[in-house]
Amino acid sequence: MLQTAGRRGWPLVAGVFLGITITLYFDLNTTLHISHVHERMSWPALNTFRMRMTSPSHAERQNDLPCPDLSRLAADDDDTVSKQLEKEVRVLVWVMTHPDNHQSKARVVRDTWGRRVNKLLFISSINDSSIPTIAVNVSEGRKHLTAKSQKAWRYVYENHFHDADWFMKADDNTYVIMENLRYFLSGENTSEPVHFGHLFKTIVKQGFYSGGSGYVLSKEALRRWGEKGKDVAKLCRQDDSGEDNAMGQCMESLGVRVDNSTDALGRTRFHCLKPEHHVVGQYPAWYHRFDANGATVFKGREKMSDYAIAFHYIEPWQMEVMEYFVYQLTPYGIVRGLKHLNQPRNHTHLKVLYW
Ligand SMILES: *[C@@H]1O[C@H](CO)[C@@H](O)[C@H](O)[C@H]1NC(C)=O
Ligand SMILES: *[C@@H]1O[C@H](CO)[C@@H](O)[C@H](O)[C@H]1NC(C)=O
Ligand SMILES: *[C@@H]1O[C@H](CO)[C@@H](O)[C@H](O)[C@H]1NC(C)=O
Ligand SMILES: *[C@@H]1O[C@H](CO)[C@@H](O)[C@H](O)[C@H]1NC(C)=O
Ligand SMILES: *[C@@H]1O[C@H](CO)[C@@H](O)[C@H](O)[C@H]1NC(C)=O
Repeated sequence: MLQTAGRRGWPLVAGVFLGITITLYFDLNTTLHISHVHERMSWPALNTFRMRMTSPSHAERQNDLPCPDLSRLAADDDDTVSKQLEKEVRVLVWVMTHPDNHQSKARVVRDTWGRRVNKLLFISSINDSSIPTIAVNVSEGRKHLTAKSQKAWRYVYENHFHDADWFMKADDNTYVIMENLRYFLSGENTSEPVHFGHLFKTIVKQGFYSGGSGYVLSKEALRRWGEKGKDVAKLCRQDDSGEDNAMGQCMESLGVRVDNSTDALGRTRFHCLKPEHHVVGQYPAWYHRFDANGATVFKGREKMSDYAIAFHYIEPWQMEVMEYFVYQLTPYGIVRGLKHLNQPRNHTHLKVLYW
């Protein structure tokens, strides 16, 4: 019976085999074609190209319901430590956005990682109650990003200085894992004049932080910036396109130092490129001149922390991919414990030590 069915099924099996072979052949051809194109494409062109190849159409994602909360816990999951840190290490994040992005990027930030921020602000040039955004009086455009940032910091200092222990600037295409940010900051002292991020070693003497992966100011850093009042205009550039190095220069002038944010094994936590480029260690040429963590020597995911904090160039649909991989997907039967990966420091303001 079985044998008869087997013999009758043979043409079908052969057909399927042929089908698969043909499909693989064309797939391989497409792949080869794509990697060939990659070699010749400049970095920004490559990103646009990848976007076209892989992103779901914008129409699919528009005006949909808020993303489901993926951080729901199973009965024996335990978030005690992260909840405790949420109270002890309060972080304000302000997100730089603009009117064209409110309904796409800003909205998705709000509905994904933004939900886990202690105090979340969106800074734009118009008030938009649907997000909501806060308007600062600036002209839009890349060349005014420094003005927008300076005015945003002024707004944060004047209205929210007492609402948080640490103050972060992020872009609307930055993805932040808040639990890991708080864990890292739990080992740092916010009364010190210090700030953190993905350190670049050019332009500013002590280095500056990439704006794209976000940078975090201690309360003392923000206090110095805020209390300088009008003098800050003399110490800090007030307008141009280099928002991140302008702020880096400004911090240096105020005596706010940069410090190392890698983990106890020297692995990176802030990432100014897309996750996949860090994971495979494929960097654009400029990155080798900028990265202070040794891009030429250290490559790939072995050099990325288990408790990574931030990634950049995350399109709205990819934010949900990140949510899935970080908060939902779990290998069955593996229960992960806490790792102590902060670099040892001689200070902390917390009662419990988390490293
Ligand atoms: C935005 O709203 C604030 C507070 O209501 C108001 O002071 C400000 O003038 C508004 N800005 C713009 C550009 O509409
Ligand atoms: C906004 O900035 C422009 C140019 O600096 C200035 O003329 C205008 O008075 C400002 N508006 C407000 C409401 O502050
Ligand atoms: C940060 O510390 C790690 C480990 O001590 C070291 O390998 C790395 O070079 C340091 N990075 C910077 C920018 O100082
Ligand atoms: C902490 O303090 C001890 C004793 O003063 C010193 O030997 C050690 O190097 C310090 N560690 C760090 C990470 O600063
Ligand atoms: C934190 O830094 C401040 C300012 O430098 C210092 O006075 C304080 O003792 C530090 N706290 C701890 C726990 O080291």
